[in-house]
Amino acid sequence: MATNMKSKSFLSEMDLTVEEFFQILELAKQLKVEQLIGKAHPLLAGKVLGMLFQKASTRTRVSFEVGMIQLGGSAIFLSAGDLQLKRGETIADTAQTLSRYLDGLMARVFAHQDIVDLATYGTIPVINGLTDLNHPCQAMADYFTIGEKLGALLGRKLAYIGDGNNMAHSLMGAGALAGMHVVIAGPKGYQPRPEIAEQAGAIAKRTGASITVTTDPSEAVTGADVVYTDVWASMGQEEEHAKRLKDFKGYQVDSKLCSLAKEDFLFMHCLPAHRGEEVAPEIIDGPHSVVFDQAENRLHVQKAILALLMA
Ligand code: CP
Ligand code: NVA
Repeated sequence: MATNMKSKSFLSEMDLTVEEFFQILELAKQLKVEQLIGKAHPLLAGKVLGMLFQKASTRTRVSFEVGMIQLGGSAIFLSAGDLQLKRGETIADTAQTLSRYLDGLMARVFAHQDIVDLATYGTIPVINGLTDLNHPCQAMADYFTIGEKLGALLGRKLAYIGDGNNMAHSLMGAGALAGMHVVIAGPKGYQPRPEIAEQAGAIAKRTGASITVTTDPSEAVTGADVVYTDVWASMGQEEEHAKRLKDFKGYQVDSKLCSLAKEDFLFMHCLPAHRGEEVAPEIIDGPHSVVFDQAENRLHVQKAILALLMA
């Protein structure tokens, strides 16, 4: 597979070619096996990753830090609130400064433009650890997990129920690259951004995938291989929580809705989850749930991304 991602940034899954998408998944598989059998793979020996966070994190922070250690390098946690960014230093100056110390930067920010600016003004690879627009590392780990559980991705159906948020956007983009049928069901006013659906739709035309947006959760889940949901109020939307609880009524992923999916469907959630809101406890804690496999696979998939960009 003749692709070269070296020194590039990873800001959106839709920046990847189909070949690059599958190259990441293949390397992740290899690294996961090697880690399991105790074969060291110090592909990033001596390299240092900065991890810049404007928002909270459990999985992203720990999986990136552990991933760098397992690759022979190290990682530094940078809380945006403790940097001079908080006192008005620009993203441009921050990016140029950090580029003088670090070999790569992973960032979790609110405005997507901030991560674009970090990549534009810096001279090191920047990896998107979630923005208000998308969450590409999570989506890559999710499609890796689906591949592990169900085999080939091509032609599989993923139904995403709930908020048309960063997760929905990245699942559409990566699903299009994977050749899957992605259906997003959410109430009016909370559907994915039309331009993201269009961009994913254009990729889908080339890969045999399809991208559909509907308000009908039953239609979405019928015959689905994967049922996915995420919180109704994302980070930064906490004050809308009560309103959203009302607006998303009827969109909870529960046993009744899942009875429309394939018998051996997977239930997925990027976590953190709110049981009793977007998902019923019997589903997230039930036999179809693979949520902790998703969380684990963040580690393996991100190691592949780090190695491809930074080695
Ligand atoms: N899924 C995910 O990105 O989790 P964290 O917010 O804990 O990093
Ligand atoms: N949509 C969620 C994802 C968290 C991993 C949020 O942005 O808070």
